[in-house]
Amino acid sequence: MRDAVVRLWPEIQWIENPKLREQVTQTWVKALERSPLKPDDLNHIPFTLLIANCPITFMEHKRCVVHIARQSAEAMQEFMGRALPINMDTVVAGAILADVGKLLEYELGPDGKSRQSERGEALRHPFTGVALALECGVRDDVCHIIAAHAAEGDLVKRTTEAYIVHHADFMAYLPFKNARNVKPK
Ligand SMILES: [Fe+2]
Repeated sequence: MRDAVVRLWPEIQWIENPKLREQVTQTWVKALERSPLKPDDLNHIPFTLLIANCPITFMEHKRCVVHIARQSAEAMQEFMGRALPINMDTVVAGAILADVGKLLEYELGPDGKSRQSERGEALRHPFTGVALALECGVRDDVCHIIAAHAAEGDLVKRTTEAYIVHHADFMAYLPFKNARNVKPK
């Protein structure tokens, strides 16, 4: 399973702290072990169940968010780092883990298509994601990003790193909600 995670997530290598890099890897390993989805399913299933006929896959969306978050953090560091310190490992680890709980939120229906699981209905992925990450020893500033990346996080005082991941995630999602933005297949 470890090899599968390394193949899915080349961006894990961007994390400089070896302990955090290993904890992030282990969190994904654990999620895949407990998920009805197989690693390669993530290269095929749509990234959201909220958009009909979503043309972008889970991994395309997740990796795009990590790239947006890192490049945004670099720009903010360059121009505003003097006043707004940013921990790049926290941004990258948080972005890679933000949706790890989704692996417990999906299940494959009898038609072979992904749908929301019973657990997913009871506990959305920010909650299960934090639980998985804490089990693997991931530090609190990274778990804060998992917890606060989605709408639930609007009730939380986000760190700078959490704002970056939140906005990266939404800018790679919201345009799809307007069908006129999306190129027909
Ligand atoms: Fe999410």
